[in-house]
Amino acid sequence: MDSLSKDFSGALKGVYISTYGCQMNVNDTERMFSLLEMINYAPVPSAEQAQLIIINSCSVREKPVHKVVSEVGRYKKLKMKNPDLKIGVAGCVAQQERGRLLKRLPLLDFVFGPDSIDELPEIVQKLDESKKPFHQTRLKNKEPYHIQTLIRNPKVTAFVNITKGCDNFCTFCIVPYTRGRERSRPIEHLLEDIKQLCGRGVKEVTLLGQNVNSYRSPCGAGFAELLKRLAKETPISRIRFTTSHPKDFDEELVSIIAEHRDKIMESIHLPVQSGNDEVLRRMNRGYTRKDYIEKVKIIFEKIPDAVLSTDIIVGFPGESEEQFKDTLSLLDEVPYEGIFAFCYSPRPFTKAALDPNPVPKKIQSERLKELNEKHQAFAFDLVQKYKGKVLDVLVEKRDEKGGLLTGRSSQNKLVYFSGPADLIGQEVPVCIEKAFPQTLYGRKI
Ligand code: SAH
Ligand code: SF4
Ligand code: F3S
Repeated sequence: MDSLSKDFSGALKGVYISTYGCQMNVNDTERMFSLLEMINYAPVPSAEQAQLIIINSCSVREKPVHKVVSEVGRYKKLKMKNPDLKIGVAGCVAQQERGRLLKRLPLLDFVFGPDSIDELPEIVQKLDESKKPFHQTRLKNKEPYHIQTLIRNPKVTAFVNITKGCDNFCTFCIVPYTRGRERSRPIEHLLEDIKQLCGRGVKEVTLLGQNVNSYRSPCGAGFAELLKRLAKETPISRIRFTTSHPKDFDEELVSIIAEHRDKIMESIHLPVQSGNDEVLRRMNRGYTRKDYIEKVKIIFEKIPDAVLSTDIIVGFPGESEEQFKDTLSLLDEVPYEGIFAFCYSPRPFTKAALDPNPVPKKIQSERLKELNEKHQAFAFDLVQKYKGKVLDVLVEKRDEKGGLLTGRSSQNKLVYFSGPADLIGQEVPVCIEKAFPQTLYGRKI
């Protein structure tokens, strides 16, 4: 990459973006690179080489503003050396803090929210004219959601946004405030978008939304219909999606996944958050433990080799030891292959942040440890079922360390095996020899 900076002629400028948070932010960063390329900016591998630095921030947990403040602080020397260097903050902290960030951080030149990404070329051009720092953080809550996926050099896998925003207002979550109201892209646009990605060599798409199950095209088509049409009408080989919300995950959807098993992958991320009904009610999740387990039962009835993963919050305000035990015991009933567990952290604007009974940090950490240890103990046994099995692996790249090829199986497991580089981009049968909770090792057959 060093040669890239050497190649810079007068016309090309370097941009460095640091990205935090979810896949949506990862996809937004790629979108920013594509848009900036149109005005002659090229990515550089370090902030030192950049004329433009963007921090694409996340505010879902723990001291997000602090993280932005300290990263901007690290760029102070660069700005002193080069007064023409521009520094901006994007993403969910930008939307949460808006103009306040500019007041707090005099080094910043601009702040822009998730709904202003497509205006980035104009924003950057405005930087040259504007003498004063500014923010562009209007949420476009009423406008239709018409975008096209922008990827500079597509690999075999790609993210595709299908919805933006969220209307669920779980009481712990800041996302409805930072990403605004939920909007869905028209189904015809998505079909066309994904056909074009296929034409550029993409074999697998991951459909992104905060709650993909509540996708609704302006023509009325829902998520199950979208999956069905993508499977039938586009040449895409593999379809994944995230995140599903248990309250909207219905039997029709399970049937469609089962019917199109050749294309729709069987790994389902279904965040439960808690195994206790009272906590779920106070989280405003819209389902009970029984509803959730019932849905899991239907999934396994129709898709016997489904692979489930989940998100869990421990130490939600007022969570008692007994209530936490209900979350622990859920692990005995649902065979999760992966869990992403977090200590509750109060977020601005949210209802739970006002709760007068926070769980002390020490207890939160103990619960988190206990939960992860319990899962760890059986996750290893759970994945031994893959030993001796032949899995189809879509090869993505060569691992830098060991020289092995890596890719994902339909179960979304990371698989390593040795083979020639021309297998990259192909689906390859691999017989699994060693299995760990996160990764599998095998041999090409
Ligand atoms: N839309 C997704 C979640 C997006 S946020 C869904 O509904 O599942 C990703 C995860 O972060 C959540 O599932 C939750 O487990 C966690 N999370 C969100 N807000 C949090 C908070 N205030 N404290 C701790 N974890 C939180
Ligand atoms: Fe947040 Fe709930 Fe929306 Fe997920 S569904 S983004 S947890 S409000
Ligand atoms: Fe973070 Fe915003 Fe994603 S808060 S998790 S970057 S939607």
